[in-house]
Amino acid sequence: MPGPDLDSILAGAAERFGTPAYIYLTDAIETRLTELRASLGAWFDVSYAMKCNPNPALLAWLAPRVDLIDVSSGGEFALACAAGWQAQRASFTGPAKRDDELRAVIAGGLGELVIESPREARAADRIAAELGVVQPVLIRLAPDRVPKGFGDHMAGRPSPFGIDIEDAPVALPQILALPNLHVIGLHIYSGTQCLRPDAIAENWRIYMQIFRETCATHDLMPQKLVFGAGLGIPYHPGDTALSLPQIAADIGPDLNAFRNEPRFSRTKLVLELGRFLVGEAGYFVTRVISTKSSRGSRLAICDGGMNAHLAASGNFGMVLRRNYVIHKIGGGDEVEKVDISGPLCTSIDKIGGAVLLPPLAEGDLIAIHTSGAYGPTASPLHFISHPTPREILVEGAQARDVTRIA
Ligand SMILES: Cc1ncc(COP(=O)(O)O)c(C=O)c1O
Repeated sequence: MPGPDLDSILAGAAERFGTPAYIYLTDAIETRLTELRASLGAWFDVSYAMKCNPNPALLAWLAPRVDLIDVSSGGEFALACAAGWQAQRASFTGPAKRDDELRAVIAGGLGELVIESPREARAADRIAAELGVVQPVLIRLAPDRVPKGFGDHMAGRPSPFGIDIEDAPVALPQILALPNLHVIGLHIYSGTQCLRPDAIAENWRIYMQIFRETCATHDLMPQKLVFGAGLGIPYHPGDTALSLPQIAADIGPDLNAFRNEPRFSRTKLVLELGRFLVGEAGYFVTRVISTKSSRGSRLAICDGGMNAHLAASGNFGMVLRRNYVIHKIGGGDEVEKVDISGPLCTSIDKIGGAVLLPPLAEGDLIAIHTSGAYGPTASPLHFISHPTPREILVEGAQARDVTRIA
């Protein structure tokens, strides 16, 4: 929870670099990595899904600390390489890979291409042949079910992602026969933003069953199996954070048994995740430009709203808008209900409804928690041409401006 130390970091950064600002605390990511390794490191390597936060300075900070990276476009591949990630440590997921992207990543030495359809496999095979290489690939499978408890589903229903498990018996032999692709394993990412340890464990049991059956049917000895993690983070007041030890206790015996099967005894298991690594390490700080009472409600209107932080406005994959955890920097004793909006000329630019906060005045700073993932790059930054948010990386006591999008 907020305290004087956090508030002095956030306020210091806001004064020095301006608002609105995303502030990323590397100490919190370090702690998260330590917790992940302590609970799940016996089974898994970690792959960072950079779509959730592709800030170049953050990528460079993560490069020596995280095993692998997952990119979802040619642009992300270029960003990761420029930030110091070796191409061999990268996988490439995405349902609509273009030929030019395939050529760039294959020529650039990509670790594994994650094949999402036979069409894509044929395109990659042709391009690899033209380049005179054999490209290692993982085949992405889409299970026919996702347990209850995931905020977003990428499988278990009609979906653009991966090969439906029902179609695998026909599709896999076609892919395995392509001479310029080398199938080294399988990949599943079927759901995300799950806060229930039992549902995570259940989902990974589904994965293991699919991996077992698919590898047996096609006689694969996989070098790598990717478990799309789905680990969620507590965005809203009242959300309970996931317990990693609870997940480990639930799924550990199954993972041990899986690892003991001869087919998987030398297989590297990988957890692919984004928000769980960096989401809670980020705060969005916005400054109150104006306050007003309107028909019985108190309003605070800020310099950054939905344009800079779409997710906090509830317009990034949320059915009902729910407040993020928000606090007033510097605190105060009394609280009152306040609606918080941003600078846009639209009523959907609302980043807090009836939030209980100490009274806000012009110039005050508000911090929105859990803002380290799906921030600037997932927001309509250029709508109404306001300044883009600053991005500040805080390492220990050192803060620096690492803004990517000017
Ligand atoms: C293939 C794939 N990998 C990784 C992720 C990262 O998810 P999260 O940030 O929820 O961990 C996603 C999310 O959509 C995804 O589709």
